[in-house]
Amino acid sequence: MLEKLKNVEQDALKALDSVQNEAELETWRVAHLGRSSGLMQIFSQFGSLSKEEKPVAGQRANEVKKSLEAAFGARSEELRQAALKRSLEQEQLDVTLPGRRVPLGRLHPDTQTLRELYSIFGEMGFQVFRSREVETDEYNFQLLNFPIGHPARDMQDTYFVESEGRGENPIVLRTHTSPGQMHAMRWISAMNPENPAPVRIVLPGMCYRYEQVTTRHETQFDQLEGLAVGPGITFSDLKGTLADFARRMFGQNTRTRFRASYFPFTEPSAEFDVECFICGGKGCGVCKGSGWLEIGGCGMVHPIVLRNGGYDPERYSGFAFGLGPQRMAMLRHRIEDIRYFWQNDLRFLEQF
Ligand code: PHE
Repeated sequence: MLEKLKNVEQDALKALDSVQNEAELETWRVAHLGRSSGLMQIFSQFGSLSKEEKPVAGQRANEVKKSLEAAFGARSEELRQAALKRSLEQEQLDVTLPGRRVPLGRLHPDTQTLRELYSIFGEMGFQVFRSREVETDEYNFQLLNFPIGHPARDMQDTYFVESEGRGENPIVLRTHTSPGQMHAMRWISAMNPENPAPVRIVLPGMCYRYEQVTTRHETQFDQLEGLAVGPGITFSDLKGTLADFARRMFGQNTRTRFRASYFPFTEPSAEFDVECFICGGKGCGVCKGSGWLEIGGCGMVHPIVLRNGGYDPERYSGFAFGLGPQRMAMLRHRIEDIRYFWQNDLRFLEQF
């Protein structure tokens, strides 16, 4: 029996040498360590051995079993390492290749325009002042000299957010950035009511109007309001500021013009045009042959508005203007449809 054990061990180890892969290794395990292997048959024959033979053969059989198991483990590890080495050799890694580019985001054309406006007005001494998009009727209209029922309210079709129980002061979405003028003046004048500090700010932000959506109009759009209040500010300051702005924004030779207009919160009021920078004033499709582009509204702050803001109109005067950043971006990049702005279509956004 000891002889048999020796043969079983030798045969098994020899067979193991020629095992080349996982599948063959498993076949080997079944054949040499499995239930019907030669070794297991020897275990089942122990019943026929004498008392003296049994312990010797038993010990030897266990040794053979352990040695085969150890050899199996070692061979398995060898195969695993060999497979790993092969896969590393096959993997062709060129460490000199340039890295993969991380896709870069970009700024929305409206944000780009706004930032340009902030920097131009910043250089002229205007600070950015932000105010709320959800307003009261009082701030959006009444304090700006649009009393209840004033016909000029028709110029700005309004979204009413909440009217119930609010009497004549419903909550509205702001229809323009002008209510920010009132917040700013009241905030600054409250610090020193006798001698309020001068104001020189731009107020950017979203505005909402109940409009028929077309290529030129959206229900949501943004404005950049400007406000300067101080002793002795005149219409010349307004013209000079906007003319200088137009030159910085559209080019050194850009001409500007003002046309009389009406807003309840400015007097006098004007519409502000710049010479068409596409055709140089000759007349083209973009300016519809007129040679001029409408850029915004402006005027001298109405005395009632100054008083509501805490500034005595006998001692202070001021100018205000409202610009459409999206309109400027559209003119500049020849964007034909304002609806592209908030659609978030990458085919549009990736062009800027
Ligand atoms: N708030 C006006 C509008 O939205 C624009 C404006 C602002 C006009 C400031 C004059 C002064 O139509």
